[in-house]
Amino acid sequence: MRIAILSRAPRSYSTQRLRAAALDRGHEVKVLNTLRFAIDLSGDDPDLQYRGKRLRDYDAIVPRIGNSITYYGTAVVRQFEQMDVYTPNTAGGISNSRDKLRANQILSRHGIAMPATAFVRDRADVIPAIERVGGAPVVIKLIEGTQGIGVILAPNNKVAEAIIETLQSARQNVLIQRFVKESKGRDIRALVVGDRVVAAMRRSANGDEFRSNVHRGGSVERVELDEEYEHTAVRAAQIMGLKVAGVDMLEGAEGPLVMEVNSSPGLQGIETATRLDVAGAIIDYIAGQVAFPHIDVRERLAVSTGYGVAEIVVHGDAEFIGKTLRESGLWQRDISVLTLHRGTSVIPNPPGKLVLEAEDRLLCWGKVDEMRALIPERPKRRPRVKRLPKDALPPVD
Ligand SMILES: Nc1ncnc2c1ncn2[C@@H]1O[C@H](COP(=O)(O)OP(=O)(O)O)[C@@H](O)[C@H]1O
Ligand SMILES: [Mg+2]
Repeated sequence: MRIAILSRAPRSYSTQRLRAAALDRGHEVKVLNTLRFAIDLSGDDPDLQYRGKRLRDYDAIVPRIGNSITYYGTAVVRQFEQMDVYTPNTAGGISNSRDKLRANQILSRHGIAMPATAFVRDRADVIPAIERVGGAPVVIKLIEGTQGIGVILAPNNKVAEAIIETLQSARQNVLIQRFVKESKGRDIRALVVGDRVVAAMRRSANGDEFRSNVHRGGSVERVELDEEYEHTAVRAAQIMGLKVAGVDMLEGAEGPLVMEVNSSPGLQGIETATRLDVAGAIIDYIAGQVAFPHIDVRERLAVSTGYGVAEIVVHGDAEFIGKTLRESGLWQRDISVLTLHRGTSVIPNPPGKLVLEAEDRLLCWGKVDEMRALIPERPKRRPRVKRLPKDALPPVD
């Protein structure tokens, strides 16, 4: 296949390794400077110019979009998507991962555990927000920071308030986040490719620093992840729409807490620490997926008026329990079931003979009018109960 690596750093370790891995496997590969593309919307089809000439055909791109050019870089990636060129990371996925707040908002509804986080604007809401995430010491973060810059540990409310006020007056948006002390200045970086973790390392902060970034002097060692960490990393990347991602997790008392999902993870640290061929795994994955360029389902389906997507939940008293999908009558009503969620498992394209159980969730595509009656009432928001620390509970006998 013909691959283009979009990068402004042709000599960097990651770009060199990806290029070498592609060549080793007999692919044609070019490193193209992201900022030298011109997006061309003048013809009948979306097109791209590179250094003033019409771009040749490519089968796949590997976007390595730096933080400083997110807007232009994602515009170029989006243009490749419009041209049906395969990309492991979509423009939407890259943009979502760049904004720590946006990433948190998306991940939090899918049951991915994260450090408790708040986002406020008004001064009066700062102290209540700090209390809600667990009180000082508390972490304050710039929404678009990277390499540990813009991540501050505030020892008490007064300092936290002062830092937040200062940053806001400099027109910076900041997150307030629980300080996960039990992680002890360490975190896990899992390199996800497709639906597996191909390499993982633990980073440890240097001295009394709490940030474990290599750019802050952190050291790295290879780790074998247990199933929970591996599963969390893969799910987080999938939800963000990234097939190649570096997922950072703190080691919380109750398991992994996802901090961020990086869409252009550096390869040097992880390949050196693990001695694994991450670049090769990325190229192999792309070669297997190249026939499936990204399709924006929402965009394509929007033209079918009167049809839509809905989630139907099989409730205790419902007409469906114990019946097979075929007997459920959904197909007769012009409703197809795309996937069935049962507990933590997912059954894509469930067969007609599958027997429905209470609490199954069916992701359906069908006539909106037919589905309306099947959609449960919006659940009431549950009252929030403050969780007590484990050792505050009386012993059970
Ligand atoms: N809530 C937290 N609790 C404890 N340590 C944290 C927390 N958030 C960040 N850190 C530490 O700071 C480092 C940088 O934070 P991160 O959110 O990944 O920002 P960046 O994008 O700059 O790397 C992390 O790798 C971790 O070691
Ligand atoms: Mg980080």
